[in-house]
Amino acid sequence: MIEAKSLTMVYGNGHKATDDISFNIKAGEIAGFAGPNGAGKTTVIKMLTGILKPTSGTAVINGFDINKEPIKAKRSFAYVADNPDILIQLTGLEYLNFIADMYDVSVERRKEKIGSLSERFGMSDALNTQMREYSHGMRQKLMVISALIHDPPAWILDEPMTGLDPAAAFELKQMMREHAKAGNAVLFSTHVLEVAEQLCDRILIINNGKIISEGTLEYLRLVNPGMTLEEIFVKLTGRPEKES
Ligand SMILES: Nc1ncnc2c1ncn2[C@@H]1O[C@H](COP(=O)(O)OP(=O)(O)OP(=O)(O)O)[C@@H](O)[C@H]1O
Ligand SMILES: [Mg+2]
Repeated sequence: MIEAKSLTMVYGNGHKATDDISFNIKAGEIAGFAGPNGAGKTTVIKMLTGILKPTSGTAVINGFDINKEPIKAKRSFAYVADNPDILIQLTGLEYLNFIADMYDVSVERRKEKIGSLSERFGMSDALNTQMREYSHGMRQKLMVISALIHDPPAWILDEPMTGLDPAAAFELKQMMREHAKAGNAVLFSTHVLEVAEQLCDRILIINNGKIISEGTLEYLRLVNPGMTLEEIFVKLTGRPEKES
């Protein structure tokens, strides 16, 4: 359902940020994308969602090629960006209505969705406040609510837990589980390996723009006996070089 096909990105400065990345997250699966800072996670996510045009390769979401049928593809996924500081001059409700308008969500349906999602994230009382007055976590929660407003089957989330308080993180994890259980696909990037351990059917580890390991937690443990995911991660990706 979330398919990367040989995604390669060479940025304008000549830097090859990702090299031939392929995977397919199927319906019913939650996949975690882990890797050091600068490994290429956001670059892959931006190519999956059509924000960046790949140098070569493509992505197929829910059967639609993001570069050939971008509107159909975009209707089938939720995207949470790594930065929630968007249109902060709007109130939360104005922003949600703007997104709902773009996705043709009916007035009745959006009322229901905004009501239930805001309630779950404890945001109901903040909806009439300008987002510039929100804390980082409140902005993040609003971005998650807005991403889910059109009921998309695929969720693509770039570090969605960053800044969320424990109750909101718990809710989001719960929602990801429910969504996958209902036959949908979730891909999220994270630096918190405990979260990946708790949630994921599959973990993709990326380093220097390449997927260096991929599999279920059981598989990763089988090929790295006696090691925690954190130890496996450090073994595979190395430690940052110490400054001398
Ligand atoms: N617009 C750009 N122009 C040139 N290079 C870029 C650009 N955006 C990212 N890069 C480079 O591409 C590489 C991958 O960056 P990316 O943001 O995808 O990493 P990431 O895995 O998401 O990191 P983090 O964990 O810090 O979010 C890095 O070397 C980065 O410097
Ligand atoms: Mg990133």
